[in-house]
Amino acid sequence: MLKTVERYLVNKRVVTSLIRPGTATVRRCFGVAAMQMQNNKTTQPKKLFTPGPLGVSLSTKEAMLADFGSRDVAFVDTVKFIRKRLVEIAGVSHDEYTAVPLQGSGTYSLESVLTTIVPKKGKVLILENGAYGRRQAAICKVLNIEHRVESFGENEQVSPKRVEQILGHDTSFTTVSVVHCETSSGVLNPVIEIGEIVRKKAPHVQYFIDAMSSFGAIPFNMKEANCDYMVSSANKCIEGVPGFGYAICRTKHLKSCQGISRSLSLDLYEQYMGLEKNGQFRFTPPTHTMLAFRKALEELDAEGGVEGRANRYKANRKVLREGMAELGFEEYLDESLQDAYIITSFKYPTQKDFDFKTFYEKLSDKGQVIYPGKVLDADVFRIGNIGHLFPEDMEKLLECIKEVCNEMNVTLPLN
Ligand SMILES: Cc1ncc(COP(=O)(O)O)c(C=O)c1O
Repeated sequence: MLKTVERYLVNKRVVTSLIRPGTATVRRCFGVAAMQMQNNKTTQPKKLFTPGPLGVSLSTKEAMLADFGSRDVAFVDTVKFIRKRLVEIAGVSHDEYTAVPLQGSGTYSLESVLTTIVPKKGKVLILENGAYGRRQAAICKVLNIEHRVESFGENEQVSPKRVEQILGHDTSFTTVSVVHCETSSGVLNPVIEIGEIVRKKAPHVQYFIDAMSSFGAIPFNMKEANCDYMVSSANKCIEGVPGFGYAICRTKHLKSCQGISRSLSLDLYEQYMGLEKNGQFRFTPPTHTMLAFRKALEELDAEGGVEGRANRYKANRKVLREGMAELGFEEYLDESLQDAYIITSFKYPTQKDFDFKTFYEKLSDKGQVIYPGKVLDADVFRIGNIGHLFPEDMEKLLECIKEVCNEMNVTLPLN
């Protein structure tokens, strides 16, 4: 078995020259590859073309092989390094902003911001054009936070003009929130224009951006966006492994939020105070995940920072869009909404033999994992360009899509 796995690892280039045969790392890689081979009918390693979880580099996974205690100096330093780099990636100064990591997936951090910054008698204006905007509304509902949802079409951007009208008429809001890249469709919202309006019309309101799927890949300066709070998570465009999210916050405001949170573990103010006091998390920290994230940040820098990462994702998307157009697949969003290069939604083909479940499963058997759609008004599927993916991975996916359509008797190019 070991020999088969070894051959497989070398063939698939899972083992690189960086790893010496016989080391613990290789043995662990063998385990992973064996598991993949077992779960995968065609012995292909899985590639994730999804909005998350995303594939990450082998070296990022290797970074998790060390065990650290929560008080270990090396771990405390890692947390410090991560907090510092996140503020820098947001393009802002350490004097004004702070990064607060929090255990859990991205939604935990979203909930943590909302529960901590909206005062008991506060009110949130949620600008919604998809599932992730609606998730914020769901959080507010559960937490009993007063809110108004202003909805826009799932295939259109939030309109800054409408935001201006609302803030001109209604002065009751303490928070305005919006999603940067609505990953449910791929729409990129004009967060800078909205921020200008919020500052002009309602200077004391906190402006909150869910930048979950864009941070680290779409250049974004929090100050330029007039943004007070922003959230993302470890396993998105910075390409760490899942396990924690983080909020980047205007420190002065966060410091005014003591005692507001409706939750103990999601209290962002207390999480911040704990980290400031001794560099430690209040509760069991995601040690291995943070070690991986540190490595991922170093790899982001080596790739040329946010610009470099953006270039790779744009290259992925170009291969995907051109290839899918050649096969006759139609995109869900208009050409005017194609600024984002995070994820692309494609309409289901209308041919009678197309069935998404079969399409998905056959692609998955070939090691290509795509994602169902998440919009309410159309039958679409999504293909992500983010994570540890390269143009050659997109080419391979297109080849597999051709094969699967052929197996399903779906004639290409679609008409
Ligand atoms: C824009 C956006 N917000 C929120 C989330 C939720 O994050 P999680 O699934 O990590 O809780 C996602 C997940 O993809 C997202 O893309």
